[in-house]
Amino acid sequence: MIASLPFHTEDGEHNHIDVKRTSTKVTILGAGPAGLVLGLLLQKEGIDCIIVERQSRDYVESRARAGFIEHHIVKFMRKNGFSDGLDNKGVPHTICEFRHNGHSYEIPYGEVASGSHWVYPQQFVVQDFIQLFISRGGQILFSHPAVELKGLESSRPVVTCSSPISTNTLLEIECDYIAGCDGFHGISRSSIPQNKAKIFSKQYGIGWLAILAEVPSTMERIVYALHESGFAGQMPRTSEITRFYLECPPNDTASNWSDDRVWEELNKRLSIEGDENLVRGPLIEKRVLNMRSVVMEPMQFGKLFLAGDAAHIITPVGAKGMNLAIADSDALAKAIIHYYHNRDETLLNQYSTMRLPHIWKTQEFSDWMIRLIHNTVDSNENKYLAFSDRLRQARLERLQKNGSYATLFAEDYVGYFKP
Ligand code: APR
Repeated sequence: MIASLPFHTEDGEHNHIDVKRTSTKVTILGAGPAGLVLGLLLQKEGIDCIIVERQSRDYVESRARAGFIEHHIVKFMRKNGFSDGLDNKGVPHTICEFRHNGHSYEIPYGEVASGSHWVYPQQFVVQDFIQLFISRGGQILFSHPAVELKGLESSRPVVTCSSPISTNTLLEIECDYIAGCDGFHGISRSSIPQNKAKIFSKQYGIGWLAILAEVPSTMERIVYALHESGFAGQMPRTSEITRFYLECPPNDTASNWSDDRVWEELNKRLSIEGDENLVRGPLIEKRVLNMRSVVMEPMQFGKLFLAGDAAHIITPVGAKGMNLAIADSDALAKAIIHYYHNRDETLLNQYSTMRLPHIWKTQEFSDWMIRLIHNTVDSNENKYLAFSDRLRQARLERLQKNGSYATLFAEDYVGYFKP
């Protein structure tokens, strides 16, 4: 249905906004891992939903981000028939390596925790999920940013989206529930009244220069180098691409890092005796990430439910962001499906309470790992740095010995989520 509503432009001229209206059961904001998994799970149960996405399909399908998938999430994807791409192109990992003061500490976490990680870049996950959702008849409105959420405490909330066709055309989607899967910068979180939720956050005062290089990885494992100049990480992505990280000040800028400086610093921080220099290749991405974590409680308000980065962000240490997003959507899908099968909102009402313990346990692990791999979290005064560096060494030695310390690490590292 199209309705034409008059409005005034800034120069006082009359103009018209065309408002197109439609309805569905669940409107999902965001076509990232959280929104797409939710859409696929609802679609499987025949529950009508529409996904609205601010960006174009090309943009979301080529956005390089996370790349590590926990083994429980892999099992979940297989169980639901979402894993063809991962099964063809993903690579399982069972060992990680820490480097410190010239020593290498290999941790066979897969053996200890009976599980593995899979390396499968997030943009491939997103491509697979979009293709699957659309091929099964699902509707994704790309380039349709949600601009307003109305009636969140009513029985039929409304999502207003702007349209790519014209700035004078809006789309209103009336629905039973809204799933805010629109990431950290989306509209969902800010649509919850401030006095109805609490935000917990932590700035670590650390930056990472995130680098994508067109070079094959020399290691089939993650390498965490704990160097006196700062942390460096090497994480395989595909046979052509490797992700690297370099610790830097949080207010640093990528323009301060010439390609030569990046390679020199990577070689200095990552190498141990006997290593050859890294093979250099084009750097296709350089951006500074600010290490911070945020959790919103509760993750719901009225008919709006948040999942993934919209509800919480976690530092990339430990590679948990995409895994948490998928686990949220699994829980939210179960609650929504339960409602439509039984007309019972009990699980929906419990959604936050069910998810938050897992989210906080994962935050605690990430916080622990941040302290392990950076020497500057608590203080950057020299006298304390020497002390905390010895503590890091003691932790690495404990991790290397099989025992409860190593088991706890391995279980946290491969993840807790059990679908
Ligand atoms: N309307 C519609 N879509 C929106 C809006 C909006 N107003 N604002 C943001 N979006 C879209 C973004 O363009 C993005 O595609 O929501 C999507 C959110 O996706 P992600 O940021 O990938 O978040 P999520 O699905 O929760 O996945 C979390 O992504 O950031 C990584 O490391 C993080 O791996 C984690 C994962």
